[in-house]
Parts: sequence; C-alpha cells; structure tokens
Amino acid sequence: MKKKGRVFSGARPTGRQHLGNYLGAIRNYVALQDDYECVYCVVDLHALTSLTETEFLKDHTYDMVLDWLAAGMDPKRSIIFVQSHVPQVTELHTILSMTTPLGMLTRLPTFKEKVRQQPDNVNYGLVGYPVLMAADITLYKADTVPVGVDQAAHLEFTREIVRRFNYHFGPTLIEPQIKLTDFPKVLGTDGVNKMSKSLNNHIELASSPEEIQERVMTMVTDPARRYRTDPGHPEICNVFTLHKHLSPDDAPRIEADCRNAVIGCVEHKRWFAKDLADYFALFRARRAEFASDPNYVWEVLTDGAERAQAIAKVTIAEVKERVGLP
Ligand code: TRP
Repeated sequence: MKKKGRVFSGARPTGRQHLGNYLGAIRNYVALQDDYECVYCVVDLHALTSLTETEFLKDHTYDMVLDWLAAGMDPKRSIIFVQSHVPQVTELHTILSMTTPLGMLTRLPTFKEKVRQQPDNVNYGLVGYPVLMAADITLYKADTVPVGVDQAAHLEFTREIVRRFNYHFGPTLIEPQIKLTDFPKVLGTDGVNKMSKSLNNHIELASSPEEIQERVMTMVTDPARRYRTDPGHPEICNVFTLHKHLSPDDAPRIEADCRNAVIGCVEHKRWFAKDLADYFALFRARRAEFASDPNYVWEVLTDGAERAQAIAKVTIAEVKERVGLP
C-alpha cells in the first residue's frame, strides 16, 4: 500500500513507560504505522542536556524500547533506533547551526523554562536543543511530526530553519508538518498534576494486575462527591476520564452509574483497575516474551540504526554538496 508520507518522532529515554506516555504518544505511534512510513527515535543525545541520570541511559533506553515493542510499535514496518547510533545527525546539527540566529534560540520559551529549571547547568547543548531536533527530523526527510502541544514551538522552529537553509542553499530539506496529538493532558493518580515518574503519580504499563489494582485504589476521584449516596460528577473525575479512553464502549454506562450513584468511587476504581489490567494483558504477554531474550531489543535497535543510516547518508551527502563542502 502506498503510504501517505514519512513520520518522525523522538522521545527521551525515560525507562518504563506509563499510562500518560501510552495515551499521549505511544498509542498514536502505533496507529500511525498503518498509514505512514514511521521512524521512531530514542533521543539519547537530547537527554544529555540535563546531565542527570546519565548512568541510567542504557537501562532506560532498553526499558522504554521494550515497552514500545510490547505496545505494538513494529520494527518490521517502522524504523526504531537510537539517535546516537547514527552520528550523521551531529554533522547536520553543526551545519544547521550556521544558519540559525542565536536570538531565535534564546528567545524560545522552552529554553527560558530550562534555564529556570537548571540554573546551574545552562550548557551550550541546551541552547542548541531545537537545532538538534531539526536535524533529527530533516535528516530522515520526515514530512509529518506527531508531537504534543509542548513541542509545537520546536516544530515551528524546525520549519523556520528549513526555510532559511533552503533559501540560502536551494531546495534541499523538507519542511515538516506538525501533527498535533490531540490528547488532553493525562493527569496522575493525584488527579491534579500531569502523570509523571518524577511525581510518582504514574501507573506503569508493565505493572501486574495486582500492582495496577493497588495503584488505582490510591487514585483521587471526584473532588465534589462526599458520600457514597451523593450523585457523582464524572466530568471532573480523573478515573472516569482515563476509563473513558480505555473503554469507550462502556463509557456511557459507567457515566450513568456514577451520576446516579449506582456505583461509588471505590467500586468505580475496582472496575477501572480490572479494565486497565485487561487492556494491557496482551502488552504484558508480549513484553515477557521479548524480555526472555535479553538481546532482542538491542538487535531491533541495531537493525533500526542500519536502516536509519541508509537514509541519513543520502541526506548528508546532499546537504554537504549544497553547502559547498569539498
Ligand atoms: N524534544 C522532544 C521532547 O522532549 C523529543 C524530540 C527530539 C523530538 N527530537 C525530536 C520529537 C524530533 C519530535 C521530533 O519530547
């Protein structure tokens, strides 16, 4: 089948993935494989900009990719690889940096936010972060980039960099389209903050049904409901929000039962925990199978790097020629 185009997306190696990662990104990555040629990258070089936990880079890469594969990201149909395994990206990063005004980088809200977050480590790589991202996307000639709103400014930046490069050196690089992941922010078990490992309000996809149940029972539910006999307000309940996305067919019934106080919050959480565990049953089975061979993930990544490199070499040769490098 003729594919619509090429997708590229990258994620920093954060280890075991959680429900927020799944609903916000992974599920979409899996679905896109039907219509696009997909290139999915573990951006380990980008991760170096914060220089924390670098000793875990390898384990985090392994754990994340194992979860990706178990979730249905398919190394036969897609290219799945590690950024640093294809060094051409750093070459392109250097070349693109020459047509990037420094002010464009230091003005970015994402850069200013990083400066606030890590005032003691405002490194050069942090400034160039979006240039490296532009190199990722353009090296693999992607025309479509699925990202969340938090990355929208970076994508606009990539488009601008491509226009500048092409203006200087003639049409060479592809200006990518942003494909906004329309999923709303996934809140954690606290019902207030975005689900994240650092806040420990997350539910790992690799959890056993018992672990899922335990975690779900700690979840904050409807803040406006005090007694079991009170009518519920599913529209402001995080458990309902997540449940609705995993079991869309049952959503009307769950909603009605909650609103009419047929079920209380504890019963609803048991229901959600069961559905969640069932939803990820195949995931757990595949994960166990892939993990039984400790080389499997690395073999996938080696193969991915070779295929990625084949594309990268062509682009780099074109770019160098355009720029006039001897
Ligand atoms: N900056 C992205 C993030 O933090 C990760 C990333 C790196 C990326 N390169 C990319 C995303 C290229 C999309 C395309 O989430």
